[in-house]
Amino acid sequence: MVHLRSILAALAATAPLASAAGLHQAAVAKGLKYFGSATDNGELSDAPYLAQLGNTNDFGQITPGNSMKWDATEPSQNSFSFTRGDVISNLAKTNGQLLRCHTLVWHSQLPSWVSSGTWTNATLIAAMKNHITNVVTHYKGQCYAWDVVNEALNEDGTYRTNIFYQTIGEAYLPIAFAAAAAADPSAKLYYNDYNIEYAGNKANGAQRIVKLVKSYGAKIDGVGSQAHLIVGSVSSTSNLAAVLQSFTALGVEVAFTELDIRMTLPSTAALLAQQSTDYKNVAAACVAVSGCVGVTIWDWTDKYSWVPNTFSGQGAALPWDENLVKKPAYDGLIAGLGGSTSTSTTTSTTLRTTTTTTTSATSAPTGTVQKWGQCGGNGWTGGTVCVSGSTCTKQNDWYSQCL
Ligand code: G3I
Repeated sequence: MVHLRSILAALAATAPLASAAGLHQAAVAKGLKYFGSATDNGELSDAPYLAQLGNTNDFGQITPGNSMKWDATEPSQNSFSFTRGDVISNLAKTNGQLLRCHTLVWHSQLPSWVSSGTWTNATLIAAMKNHITNVVTHYKGQCYAWDVVNEALNEDGTYRTNIFYQTIGEAYLPIAFAAAAAADPSAKLYYNDYNIEYAGNKANGAQRIVKLVKSYGAKIDGVGSQAHLIVGSVSSTSNLAAVLQSFTALGVEVAFTELDIRMTLPSTAALLAQQSTDYKNVAAACVAVSGCVGVTIWDWTDKYSWVPNTFSGQGAALPWDENLVKKPAYDGLIAGLGGSTSTSTTTSTTLRTTTTTTTSATSAPTGTVQKWGQCGGNGWTGGTVCVSGSTCTKQNDWYSQCL
């Protein structure tokens, strides 16, 4: 049977340059559902930030970085707060963007009434189900996907010791998925983790979780590969695609859910070039695999990246710099989403068969460029005339922007 994605990808491969007008447009042209970004309340008062976040040429999907987590939504038992989460779900609605909802059961950002509570198997199951039921019901019909369980694995693929595992055992996973499915049958339900981009014990552990949830008769629809990666240490497209394929072989979809690629500061031209290649390889891996539905970066500008707060001396992990100016990584993503030569000869039946587009990855339709849009730079063949009231301003060799 010819897969619809193959047909769409074949059409995209021969289509004009519409795919290069932005990251989301390029992704959709290749049969993905979205390219998106994390965001959250604290950043939305930054008007230029908000404007670009709402640029649906680049972002067709958003994820709240923090405001739907347990500490935000149920800070004390059975007392729910959706104010900040609603800001993000409403923004998605206003912008016409898909919403990935994040996250229901996680050991981190867990209020102390849960993490330090005195529980029995029955009382913790009840509290966990109550949390899931209330939060998922509140956002029913609004979430393309829910990250139901987040980061349940150690690096060696064994279960992370958290209050849920300690008290309930591995059954907490299928119980969580079943509760989420009951509350919103239409949301895609994901297991989400980091360091599962590479073959090995942890990726095997995620596969075990998919099978476990299914073995209990519960629904699991996807595996989210967070992809918090390091410049120069990113696998080839084919290796990344092979791991994605190991999940889709189990009958679930996949997505890169929190992509960023950090470097040791200061950034240099060489590091930025390597980062561009790394981003390209990740995006191309999703394009290559039938069943990879999208790519989400973990915010889009270095101004709001979590990385420097967590990894001292590291940062510059995102495709836009702290001044909201595109970096070479942006073009790398466009190239990966446009199809790269490294993915053009794949033969497996579960890989996309048509990734042979030869269109220029940095091209875009000509015409007037909106404010904040790209209007020049090395390789740029798109529009160069800015909308009235803004001026095409060189930011670096790769990027001029209408400001
Ligand atoms: O809201 C408080 C603020 O009131 C206070 O003044 C400030 C002082 O540090 O802290 C603020 O909370 C911070 C919160 O982000 C909101 O900015 C927390 O300290 C900080 O720890 C928290 O970090 C978040 C991190 O998850 C927590 O583990 C990051 O923003 C968020 O991007 C990050 O996201 C996770 C994903 O959920 C799961 N995968 C890994 C990813 C990166 O760590």
